[in-house]
Amino acid sequence: MSNRRQFVLKSLIGALGLSSSAFSCESTPEADSDNKREFKGPVILTTWNHQETNAIALNVLKENGSVLDAVESAIRKVEADPNDSSVGYGGRPDREGVVSLDACIMNKAGEAGSVCFVRDIMHPITVARMVMEKTPHVILAGQGAKQFALENGMKARNLLTDASINSYKEWLKKSEYKTIINIENHDTIGLLAIDESQDMAGGCSTSGMAYKYHGRVGDSPIIGAGLYVDNEIGSATATGVGEMVLRTLGSFLVVELMRGGLDPYQACKEAVHRIVNKYDCKDTQVGYVALNKYGEAGAYSIHPGFIYTCSTPHKNEVLKSESYFK
Ligand code: GLY
Repeated sequence: MSNRRQFVLKSLIGALGLSSSAFSCESTPEADSDNKREFKGPVILTTWNHQETNAIALNVLKENGSVLDAVESAIRKVEADPNDSSVGYGGRPDREGVVSLDACIMNKAGEAGSVCFVRDIMHPITVARMVMEKTPHVILAGQGAKQFALENGMKARNLLTDASINSYKEWLKKSEYKTIINIENHDTIGLLAIDESQDMAGGCSTSGMAYKYHGRVGDSPIIGAGLYVDNEIGSATATGVGEMVLRTLGSFLVVELMRGGLDPYQACKEAVHRIVNKYDCKDTQVGYVALNKYGEAGAYSIHPGFIYTCSTPHKNEVLKSESYFK
């Protein structure tokens, strides 16, 4: 992290009064059940290292923004970051050199909006929200999604950066498509939020697998796969190889497992087991994070190396996920 980014992060944490002394967001099998079930206030939970992102979301809540505003604002920050090579502007292109983005969002009422294979639009999360709020549909794809974004005031722009062009040119030398575990230690941004009133929302956004087939759509824009929010129970989101998450409808599964009584950690673990019990996962990473109605958080992944960020008004910490393979 650059000095400037560290400074901005410290300022945000300071402004929010964050410290490292409050309760942990982590839910583990050892969690003391007597200490559970007491809702302790807002929580923001994200895949990978997103302390700055989470601080933005908490700040929106602090300023009396809605939980949905918190989700959208925070994800927009990641989409606009040219240094994040798996989301939005600067995201890696497909095998034709074209950047195509996927995103979805869900609100506390269980309404959902999604865009997939959208090109030239920097903020697919905002387009997904507009699909949810301004149309009778859930998903818009490709050229139709772009047209809808333009009609609703968004500007078209080139999403390639010098860095993403250079890495694409490097890739072209071999043109080999393979999944890489924990590529650059981040992938999809999946963000789950619960506010002071215990209302939940969530979103995710990605440029998908690097150098994918042109037209490929992953798990992230598919409601129930890359994201699911049920305000009565909890929420879940996924990162990693979307095909595995799609095959098992992972995020919906995690929420249904929580409905059945599992805590977020146990639910994520069981959803990972459903994948590894059926498919060869030697070179395949998937990570889940989940948040329940009580603000308890958990995560689990196939391989080591998956990290996630759990933030409250009192704490903003990056945690290591437990994994199936050690
Ligand atoms: N999880 C992101 C993707 O597979 O597209």
